[in-house]
Amino acid sequence: MQQRDRIAIQQNMRGTFVVNGESSDIFYAPYKTLLEVLREDLDLTGTKHGCELGECGACAVLVDGAPPLSCLVLAVESEGRAMRPCIRCRLRSLIWASRNAATAPPAFC
Ligand code: FES
Repeated sequence: MQQRDRIAIQQNMRGTFVVNGESSDIFYAPYKTLLEVLREDLDLTGTKHGCELGECGACAVLVDGAPPLSCLVLAVESEGRAMRPCIRCRLRSLIWASRNAATAPPAFC
């Protein structure tokens, strides 16, 4: 292992994420958003990557029943909490976006 690889591994942190009742223990970069960890580290691409500005709602997930936008939340904040994608929010945001492209959607859920 080269020195550069060792540094990269040391910069990652270990965490447990519980998605749809399934627990996953992974190493991830502490600066990643919940959206990035779900899609890139856990390979759960059902959570969609939209605006990354908190405007479209495509990335909504339920964390302990609350619907934060995963593009605006650091993954470390959701570690060990029960998560599942919020289908209802995503559908509503898509409908809202198709009708009102110029305005931000209201909060759903
Ligand atoms: S990607 Fe649009 S609100 Fe998160």
